[in-house]
Amino acid sequence: MKAIELKNVKKNFKDGDETIEALKETNFSVDKGEFVAIIGPSGSGKSTLLTIAGGLQSPSSGEIWINGQTLSEKKEKARAKVRFEEIGFILQASNLVPFLTVKKQLELVDKVTKGKNNKSGLDLLSRLGLDKLIDKYPDELSGGERQRVAIVRALYNDPSIILADEPTASLDTEKAYEVVKILAKEAKEKNKATIMVTHDLRLVDFCDKVYLMQDGSLSEKTD
Ligand SMILES: Nc1ncnc2c1ncn2[C@@H]1O[C@H](COP(=O)(O)OP(=O)(O)OP(=O)(O)O)[C@@H](O)[C@H]1O
Ligand SMILES: [Mg+2]
Repeated sequence: MKAIELKNVKKNFKDGDETIEALKETNFSVDKGEFVAIIGPSGSGKSTLLTIAGGLQSPSSGEIWINGQTLSEKKEKARAKVRFEEIGFILQASNLVPFLTVKKQLELVDKVTKGKNNKSGLDLLSRLGLDKLIDKYPDELSGGERQRVAIVRALYNDPSIILADEPTASLDTEKAYEVVKILAKEAKEKNKATIMVTHDLRLVDFCDKVYLMQDGSLSEKTD
């Protein structure tokens, strides 16, 4: 069953007199339990696709469907509700709240989602070696530590869809593999639909499908 579907989605940006076609007409879906990778050059439209898929920005045309509901017809408040309940984002900048400790970042998820939280969130913290950092603020963490906190936060309320933009960018090889294995395990065991944008071709071995983004056009890689 489809967890996320883009139907005839396009995104243009205006740059003075010019129009940038960041995303050409795209039809794309990810099933529950499926873990897909998107690779492609810088500026090709990967983050644009991911943020549109998650309702963080609107397409210029086309529709986004999340677990059988279309985002396009919803007002911002209703879209935000779908985002909080269904989607875990790991964005390119780790986007932690600067004035909250690690522990408080996670409690915030609990509050917003009214305690849908699973205990395994705390297990994840220790698997990623973060339990000692629980009382620290983001600016007291290294880039890799911040990235891992953002990953735990995204998984914390057990969303049905995970959208991860370069989740391993600031991690060493061992931690990068650990993160991708966690994402793969979450997808398989909890039937989550997961999209991971990555530059690291070694990591796509853990994915069910690989898509290539080039100049705003998405195609499935079959070799
Ligand atoms: N808000 C915006 N306003 C104008 N142009 C934008 C905006 N966001 C993205 N673009 C342009 O759209 C294109 C796609 O950008 P996008 O961020 O999706 O690329 P990307 O594949 O994620 O690149 P990277 O690998 O460097 O993160 C680029 O040409 C970019 O400059
Ligand atoms: Mg990007």
